[in-house]
Amino acid sequence: MAIYNLGSINADMTYRVPHLLAPGETLATSSLTRGLGGKGANMSVAAARAGAQVRHLGAVGDDGRWAIERLTEYGVDTRQIAVLSEATGHAIIMLDSDAENCILIYPGANRALSVERIEAGLAEASPEDIFVFQNETNAQREAAELASARGLRVAYAAAPFDADAVTLVLPLLDLLVLNEIEAAQLEAATGQGIDSIPVRDVVVTLGARGCRWINTDSGDSRDFAALPVTPVDTTGAGDTFTGYLLAGLDRGLPMATSIEMAQRAAAIMVTRQGTADVIPDLKDVTEYRF
Ligand code: ADP
Ligand code: NA
Repeated sequence: MAIYNLGSINADMTYRVPHLLAPGETLATSSLTRGLGGKGANMSVAAARAGAQVRHLGAVGDDGRWAIERLTEYGVDTRQIAVLSEATGHAIIMLDSDAENCILIYPGANRALSVERIEAGLAEASPEDIFVFQNETNAQREAAELASARGLRVAYAAAPFDADAVTLVLPLLDLLVLNEIEAAQLEAATGQGIDSIPVRDVVVTLGARGCRWINTDSGDSRDFAALPVTPVDTTGAGDTFTGYLLAGLDRGLPMATSIEMAQRAAAIMVTRQGTADVIPDLKDVTEYRF
C-alpha cells in the first residue's frame, strides 16, 4: 500500500518585517528563513512521518535539488520527482510582528510536469494505493483520470481553491478535503450544499472547531472536536491533517480513527513555528498530552 502524491514543492522564504510592504516601498530585512514548503511536499512529509510509504510525483528546477534531498531524508520516495529547466516553485512570505502575512507564490516547475511523467510515476500503482493531489500543480484532471483508471482511491485537497479546477476533477474523487472557506466557495460555485456534493467522503476542516466528516453514501455526518492547544503558527495544519488522514486510511484504519489521528497531528502542528520541517511524527502524535 502506498500513497502517490502529485504535489507542489516550494522553497518557503520567510522574511520577518516590522510592517507589511506598501506600494512603492523598499524595506530591508535581516531575517530570512528558508524552509521546505508547498502543499504537496507538506502532505508527503506528513504522510511519511505518519508511517506511510509515500511516492511523490512532482518537479523542481536545478536550484531545487536540496528539496529533493530533504524529502528523501524525511522518508519520502523521491525517485519520481523531475528536475526541469523551470525555476523551483517558491513562496516569498512577509511576516510582521502581529503575525500578519503577505505571500507571493511562483509555481515554476510545479506547473510544468508532463502527463507522460505522471503516467510513468504511476506505472507500479495498484488498487490498494491512494492517489492525492492539490491545486498547485498542472495536469490535475489527466492525473486523476490515470489514477482512477488504475483503480486507486482518489483524494483531493481543494486548495488553493479554484472553482474550475475542483469542478473538473469532482466526478473522479473518492475523498475531498477542504477547509470551511473552501467549502463555502464550493457551495457557491456549484449551487449545491456540501452534503450533496457527489463525492463519497467529504471532510471539512474547521480550524479550532475541529472538522466534520460527511459520508454521502449513508447521508451521515459526524463532527470531531479539535484538541485544545495554544496556537503559535497555524501554517501547515491543514496539510498535516490531510497527510495523516491519508496515512491512516492507507493503513486500513477506519475513517473516524484516521480523522482522530489527523486532528492530533494538526493540533501539534499549530503549536510549532514552521511547515514541512516541523511536522510531528507518529510517536509525537500518539504520546502528546493535550
Ligand atoms: P487550513 O489550514 O487548511 O485552513 P484548518 O485551519 O481548518 O485548515 O485546520 C486543519 C485542522 O487543523 C483542523 O481540522 C484541526 O484539526 C486542526 N487545527 C487548526 N487550528 C487549530 C487550533 N487552533 N486548535 C486545534 N486544532 C486546530
Ligand atoms: Na505550525
